[in-house]
Amino acid sequence: MQIVSSVAAIQRRARQWRRAGTRVALVPTMGFLHDGHLSLVERARRAVGQAGVVVLSIYVNPTQFGPAEDLARYPRDLPRDTRLCRTAGVDLLFTPADAEIYPGRKEDRYSTYVVEEALSTGMEGAARPTHFRGVATVVAKLFNLVQPEVAVFGQKDFQQAAVIQRMTTDLNFPIKIVVAPTRRERDGLALSSRNQYLDPDQRAQAPILFHALEATKLAVSRKTVSAARLQSDLRAFLTVAPLAKLDYVEFFDPDTLQPAKQVKRGTQMALAVFFGQTRLIDNARL
Ligand code: PAJ
Repeated sequence: MQIVSSVAAIQRRARQWRRAGTRVALVPTMGFLHDGHLSLVERARRAVGQAGVVVLSIYVNPTQFGPAEDLARYPRDLPRDTRLCRTAGVDLLFTPADAEIYPGRKEDRYSTYVVEEALSTGMEGAARPTHFRGVATVVAKLFNLVQPEVAVFGQKDFQQAAVIQRMTTDLNFPIKIVVAPTRRERDGLALSSRNQYLDPDQRAQAPILFHALEATKLAVSRKTVSAARLQSDLRAFLTVAPLAKLDYVEFFDPDTLQPAKQVKRGTQMALAVFFGQTRLIDNARL
């Protein structure tokens, strides 16, 4: 496995791959890798085959964190991540430095961003106003640098995948976006680098997100129910996990992300829940 951290070096590799006709798949991450990330690597390998190249990037992107968010304490462990990437069959690990991704940002001389204006306004975008601007910008940069034919994202971040798909279409990136299913712990909690912030009591209650999705799936499996009704049922349901503070729960069309007043099979549900300072998200197609 090759490790590359400069922009010039990844651009050189991308040029070589392109000339040789090598198929390239990209898995963008912020590191502190878990089985969810590694399942994206597997999916990437399937897309480009053994002769292709799987690139995994690790970059804790400062522009997608709000001023009061957890950028400084976001978990990092590059030696461990490097070992996991080797074992998972990653061909190239790209670990760029801030100074190269956002040249001049410290001196206030960085001013170019990618803004998706429709799908990024609700839910995570409402809770975290500049979040998707940061995500779209860094992913566009990674697309430019690596020039993959496939990029793999997780369904765990459903709205993020939708924003990236829209950006890819709108900006004519010749890249296929693949969205891979959410990997979970045995008790249903979606794997996330942020799970390690949870104390034992919070961790014990954290599967409530998954249970809320499952209970709602059941509730709408045979009939249509109003979103208002489901919202209030859900608030009652969450009282069994007293450490959980609901941030939002939304029902929406999976393609347009438009809110659904009536919820039925096939409607998408997403929720965000605080446990102390830690904010967890999950979603499912009902
Ligand atoms: P990060 O949170 O590290 O996630 C990297 C990728 O892994 C994302 O596509 C995410 O949806 C996926 N992922 C996370 N948990 C998962 C799980 N339990 N099952 C399956 N996939 C999972 O998302 C980001 O980083 C950043 O916003 C990024 C896209 C890298 C831009 O900075």
